[in-house]
Order: sequence, then structure tokens, then C-alpha cells
Amino acid sequence: MRRIRVGFIGAGGIAGLHASKLSTIPEVEVVSVADVVYDKARSFSEKYGGKPYNDWREMYKSEKLDAVWICIPPYAHTDEVEEAAERGIHVFIEKPIALTLEKAEDMRRAVEESGVISWVGYHFRQAYSIRRCKSILSESGPVGVVLGRWWGGIVGDPKHWWWRRELSGGQIVEQATHIFDLARFLVGDVSRVYTELTKSMLTDIPDLTIEDAAATVLRFKNGAIGVITNTCGANPQAHKVEMDIVARRAHIEIRGTKKATIYRIDGVEDITSLNDPYLDEDLKFIKAIKGEGESEVPISEGVKTLKLTLAALEAYEKTLPIKID
Ligand SMILES: NC(=O)c1ccc[n+]([C@@H]2O[C@H](COP(=O)([O-])OP(=O)(O)OC[C@H]3O[C@@H](n4cnc5c(N)ncnc54)[C@H](O)[C@@H]3O)[C@@H](O)[C@H]2O)c1
Repeated sequence: MRRIRVGFIGAGGIAGLHASKLSTIPEVEVVSVADVVYDKARSFSEKYGGKPYNDWREMYKSEKLDAVWICIPPYAHTDEVEEAAERGIHVFIEKPIALTLEKAEDMRRAVEESGVISWVGYHFRQAYSIRRCKSILSESGPVGVVLGRWWGGIVGDPKHWWWRRELSGGQIVEQATHIFDLARFLVGDVSRVYTELTKSMLTDIPDLTIEDAAATVLRFKNGAIGVITNTCGANPQAHKVEMDIVARRAHIEIRGTKKATIYRIDGVEDITSLNDPYLDEDLKFIKAIKGEGESEVPISEGVKTLKLTLAALEAYEKTLPIKID
């Protein structure tokens, strides 16, 4: 059996997580890793194998890769997707795929024109509990209202890219994007959005230049309405990543990627996910490369969710609802 030759761009937190999942898949060989901090590439390679580089262009030139896992911060995307596509390298890319719609569209075009397979790391879509909710929603009639929230804490220390809007895009674009994507996945595309952002709570942390709270009102194309709130100022004992959806014949409560409850007129169903969504997205992407399935989250989905979160920011800046085509 010829193994799928994988390279990594970025050797940080999420790269390590994917590498640990890939190490359990026999058809995969991690052959290289590139990080601008060479020591990070080296320690990653000591742990998961592969040759370390500090420049992904060198890695592309020197290695014959079948697939690349792109795990770099939002600000760091340049043309690593376009070059991979040109070389016929399949692309797994972490969310958010870029900080601007122009960049994201360039990536999508390159992938679609080349025919390489792409997958965006919206792992919530793989949780068994969430997949069961999607299937129930498909037979529960129209949706009325959606309530989503990402109430968490600040990522990293004051030097971390997450703290700065120009590097991370802020909590909506970088993190609550999972909830916006989940809303699209379960309810459908959004036609109009309005957002209020604030930094009214963490006033004692001046280096944090992103919002500490936000509330977004969404109108879906199918007529449903929703509200998504996010904060990075929640008490650590009360972090919440959740979504409630009221449909004609079912009320759904999603609690993270592990639990969901469905209320129907004839009873209540509790669902617990036993699967590992990160492993499943990696496995399915490998299967798609082998021609044994299709990408469930192609790069066009990454573009659409980015468009929605950027529209939310634009709405705040203009204090106007923003229409989305
Ligand atoms: N799906 C998820 O649940 C999930 C979880 C965490 C992070 N993420 C996403 O993954 C991405 C990376 O996040 P992270 O937490 O791993 O960040 P991190 O800061 O831990 O790691 C990023 C790594 O990329 C390296 N890097 C920066 N620019 C580079 C470049 N041009 N070429 C090569 N390497 C470069 C950095 O040196 C660092 O080692 C972000 O977009 C984040 O939103 C997704």
C-alpha cells in the first residue's frame, strides 16, 4: 500500500492535534513540517516524524507531497493554498481560511480550477450528536429561531496573535466562526446580518484589541431568525459553546460536540457523541483523497462562513444590517 505523503504548515497547537490523529491512520506518513519558528518545526518532527523546514516554499519544492495540513494563524495566509493547488497537493486548512474575502476567493478559485480536494477544519460538523440533530431537523419542519453562543476565555498571553484584531480578526472571525458555521450547516445560508461589538468589560486589559463581547442578529434565507453571542470574558467554570434551535416539530439543544437533547411532542431524546470529530475529519479527508468519498467541507464552505463573519463586522462598523448574496 502506498502511503499518503503529508506535510504540515505551522507546528503549533492545532497542528500537533491533527498530527496525533494522523499518527493513528496507517495509510498516512507525515513527511515534513514547515514553521517560521524552526525550533517548533524541529520539535514537531521529533514527535510526529518528517523533515523540518522553516519555509513552506522550500518544503513544497523539496518534498513530493500528496496533501498538506495548513495550520497557521489567520494573518499568516499568503499563497500557500494557491501553490499547493498548482502542484496538485490536496489541502486541509484550518478555519478561518483567511482574513479577507479577496484572499479566500483566490484560494477557492485555485482549488476549484486545479481539482485538488480541500477540507476546512470546521470539526463541529463531524460530532455524532450534531449530525443526528441535522438529520432530525431535516424531518422536523421549518425552523423558527436559533440561539447560539461561544462564551469562553482569552486565548494565550498578551504576546499571542489572538489578542490583536489585525492578526486574528477578533473572536467572531477566529473562534465563534465555529458557531456561525454550525448555524449555516444546520439551518442554512444567511441573507442578512446585524452585529453590535463592544469592549466594555475587560477594560483592565488594554493589550486586548478585539471585542470582549458581541451579539449578532441573523436572518436566514429560509426565513428563520437567530442570535449568536460571543464573549472572551466568561468565568472559566461557566464556559459555554451551545446552540438551541426551535423547529416546527422539534426543539434542539446542542451542548458542545458531546451532548444534545431533542424535545419532541412524543418525548425527549438525549444524545451523547462517542466519536472524535477531529479524527473523523482527518480520516474522511484521507478517504476523499483515496477516492473513497467526497469532501464534506470544501473550501467554498470556508469562504461562505468567512463572508458571514466579515459581514457581521461590517454591520457593526457601518451600524447597518448587511445583506449577503
Ligand atoms: N478547529 C479547531 O478547533 C481549531 C483549534 C485551534 C486553532 N484552530 C485554528 O488553527 C490555526 C492555528 O492555530 P493554533 O492554535 O495552532 O496557533 P499556534 O499559534 O499555536 O500555532 C501556529 C503556528 O504557525 C506558525 N506560523 C506562523 N506563520 C507561519 C508561516 N507563514 N509559515 C509557517 N508557519 C507559520 C507559528 O510559528 C506557530 O508555530 C488558526 O487559524 C486557528 O483558528 C482551529
